Amino acid sequence: MKLIIATIKPFKLEEVREALTGIGVRGMMVTEIKGFGSQSGHTEIYRGAEYAVNFVPKIKLEIVVSASMADQVIEAIKTTAQTGKIGDGKIFVLDVLQAVRVRTGETDADAL
Ligand SMILES: Nc1ncnc2c1ncn2[C@@H]1O[C@H](COP(=O)(O)OP(=O)(O)OP(=O)(O)O)[C@@H](O)[C@H]1O
Ligand SMILES: [Mg+2]
Repeated sequence: MKLIIATIKPFKLEEVREALTGIGVRGMMVTEIKGFGSQSGHTEIYRGAEYAVNFVPKIKLEIVVSASMADQVIEAIKTTAQTGKIGDGKIFVLDVLQAVRVRTGETDADAL
């Protein structure tokens, strides 16, 4: 299993969620965050306002999928969240050692 952590622009959330459920993703965590990337110290436009600082609102997605689905998920996020402007986000991929569905005790792929 893989954990895919992606930051995206907030207005892209609905489109990305639709793309991901469309390819069979059944669950995800969504968090409103602030962060910065390589333009730290410069400005990035968010909803018409210039954030003259380092922290810009983003959405963080955390998605655990079978390793065989990971590339598809990454591709879906990449194509859906891209505007071509700075601050489109980042995608990080980590190995997941174990998963458990609390209700049934199912583990790993069965727990997703
Ligand atoms: N190295 C990093 N480690 C952890 N989080 C990061 C890192 N770089 C970016 N982020 C997170 O991703 C968000 C989006 O970053 P951003 O898309 O601006 O990256 P970037 O490298 O500056 O790319 P771009 O040139 O397109 O702006 C940041 O707000 C931050 O939350
Ligand atoms: Mg940036």
